[in-house]
Amino acid sequence: MTIAILGAGNMGGAIAKGLVRSGLAPADITLTRTQPGAPEDLAALGLAVTTDNAAAAAGADALFVAVKPWLVSAVLQPLAGALRPGTLVVSVAAGVTLAELREDLGRAKGVRLARVMPNTAVGLCCGVSAVAGETPEATEAATALMGRLGLTFVCGEERFGAVTALSGCGIAHALRFLRAGQEAGLEMGVPAKAAGEIFAQVMKGAAELVLRSGNHPEAEVDRVCTPGGLTIKGINAMERAGFTGAVVQGLLASLPEK
Ligand SMILES: NC(=O)c1ccc[n+]([C@@H]2O[C@H](COP(=O)([O-])OP(=O)(O)OC[C@H]3O[C@@H](n4cnc5c(N)ncnc54)[C@H](OP(=O)(O)O)[C@@H]3O)[C@@H](O)[C@H]2O)c1
Repeated sequence: MTIAILGAGNMGGAIAKGLVRSGLAPADITLTRTQPGAPEDLAALGLAVTTDNAAAAAGADALFVAVKPWLVSAVLQPLAGALRPGTLVVSVAAGVTLAELREDLGRAKGVRLARVMPNTAVGLCCGVSAVAGETPEATEAATALMGRLGLTFVCGEERFGAVTALSGCGIAHALRFLRAGQEAGLEMGVPAKAAGEIFAQVMKGAAELVLRSGNHPEAEVDRVCTPGGLTIKGINAMERAGFTGAVVQGLLASLPEK
């Protein structure tokens, strides 16, 4: 399978890294950008980065659109005639709808179209991506592709805003929690690096407990909270400081308008 990724920035680069990690040959992936030369991390993986969108798109079985949302039309429209029938076009551009993408693709015949909302953890194949295809077949093809990079969640486009907040922005929200844990460890006298690693592993373990068991998070919390113990004292202190309200407010503030 040959893949073209238009946009070699944070997200395009993460997708490329994840695809390589998932077993695709770097030689089958071409990224594009405006500046000549490949970013160091992508070059180190043997990934080709060019400035020629048309050449990259013409040979691709799957084409990722990973430029900023306001550049999507300018990038896609000139390519419409060059895409092979059956090409899977996957846009990750926030807020750009399937209808808008189809309009940009105009005369491209037989192109399968899907919209995806990933997060940057796709680079480690532990991302989460919402997927909405124009047709069931496009949804299936895009889900199979994004499934190489982590969890997929098929949903209607009306849910994309919520997924953008929860996963695209949520990864930064979660990292703020990690930083807070690290700062607490530092105040307790644990060196910053060790405190960060310990708390990151705690977050990873907590997430795995829920993902693997399918349990409600509170069921796992209850297991750790001894009556009258230190854990529940800490949790109640966090809640008195407004923890749950702050997280909900933060994620709601990250909900895109469109
Ligand atoms: N970052 C995230 O966490 C995230 C999450 C979900 C979705 N997304 C979506 O991913 C898309 C890209 O975001 P980003 O954060 O990766 O942006 P970014 O880091 O700024 O990367 C954008 C890339 O697009 C390239 N580019 C600009 N114009 C181009 C053109 N005409 N042809 C080919 N490449 C072109 C840029 O080239 P140069 O390198 O030469 O500047 C750059 O490599 C956005 O639509 C965003 O909504 C991002």
